[in-house]
Amino acid sequence: MMQLYATVNSFQNPRTSIRMTLRSTMDSNHRTQNRRELNVGDKTIESSVLGLYAMNGGGGPNSYAQNSSYQRGVVDVAKPILEEEIATKLDLKRLSANNTKPFQIADFGCSTGHNSFPAMQIITEAVERKFQAEGLTSQIPDFHVLFNDQVMNDFNTLFQSLPTQRNYHAAGVPGPFHGRLLPKASLDFAYSSCALNWLSEVPKAVTDSTSPAWNKGKVHYTGARQEVFEAYSNHYANDIESFIEARAEELVNGGLMALLVPAVPAFKNVETSYTTPTEMDLIGSCLTDMAKKGLFSKEKVDSFNFPLYFTIPEELKAIIQRSHSFTIERMEILNNPGKRTLPTADARATYLRAVFEGLLINHFGSEVMDELFNRYTKKLAASQSFLDPDNEKSIIIFVLLKRKS
Ligand SMILES: C[S@@+](CC[C@H](N)C(=O)[O-])C[C@H]1O[C@@H](n2cnc3c(N)ncnc32)[C@H](O)[C@@H]1O
Repeated sequence: MMQLYATVNSFQNPRTSIRMTLRSTMDSNHRTQNRRELNVGDKTIESSVLGLYAMNGGGGPNSYAQNSSYQRGVVDVAKPILEEEIATKLDLKRLSANNTKPFQIADFGCSTGHNSFPAMQIITEAVERKFQAEGLTSQIPDFHVLFNDQVMNDFNTLFQSLPTQRNYHAAGVPGPFHGRLLPKASLDFAYSSCALNWLSEVPKAVTDSTSPAWNKGKVHYTGARQEVFEAYSNHYANDIESFIEARAEELVNGGLMALLVPAVPAFKNVETSYTTPTEMDLIGSCLTDMAKKGLFSKEKVDSFNFPLYFTIPEELKAIIQRSHSFTIERMEILNNPGKRTLPTADARATYLRAVFEGLLINHFGSEVMDELFNRYTKKLAASQSFLDPDNEKSIIIFVLLKRKS
């Protein structure tokens, strides 16, 4: 297929002007200034314009692009499954694509694209093979890939890194994926990897000192009181429902949605194993140590919580089944080979730094980041069990959904 060129939108560097604006407004009652109403069709959706989270941009030593081999492992393990599912489940007759319309694919939560590009290549090539297998080679459509992430994402790096050899047109779609982002019935294939563990925001009750779910002294729900856990799990269920409802509007009838969702096998860990939430607790213990040393106040730690939630397969299935817009075509647990790519304390620490630094800077300031991650590296190195990938029990749930007619 001939080489196609991208439609590139330009964005500001997220580490400079946007982040500074955000920091000066987010912790005050001006928060509403960052919100606006998006009129999408006949629905009015209030949406956070900036969003709170983005991975480290650029291509430097702490960038997401240089430190996401863990997430790349997810694409690798999903490849044969995606290929098989597209070959068997994609219903070409019911898609919007025809001789005049492109086949539209969206990646929700693409970051700077490093892992998104191979995934989009896998999907477009599998769709091409499907057309060929059905004797429709002359009808293979143009592909249009929509790269979605938060407004603060470094889209410049994404567009600068687009593979020169690709078989799709590219465009950016900035904004939070828990709401509508695309026109009704415009999407043929939705994809999201390692992004649906991010909540739309920290559940309000966990930072409210008058609430029974106030998470004083902790930064996440692992090991916290049941009320804290419930605030997170309720928020997660609402967020996933919103995501599914939005995609149900955007997908054509018969359209497919492949989700790769970071999760845990069970909510309680056995002592010899750990998961990504356990590592967030370890960052929390470093923050507490730093507060004790006077680098910032204890209240600063009390008011910080990670807006992430790691579901279990049964819970995710129950949430999806509450939506009547999709059938579950396939659901299984994948063992991420990417966890074997972080053998040293330094590598593990930088992998989490690339993901969480923006969030932590917003709350604690950039001055303390080196010290925080030095402490974190030392704690990891001191506990050999953290460095043994066999002890890492996080899982990835693969779900393939089909839009009902
Ligand atoms: C760990 S990265 C995964 C990136 C990429 N999919 C991969 O596998 O390497 C999670 C991405 O989801 C994005 N994200 C989180 N919440 C989001 C939201 N509500 N709307 C859009 N993107 C979001 C983050 O900004 C981040 O880029």
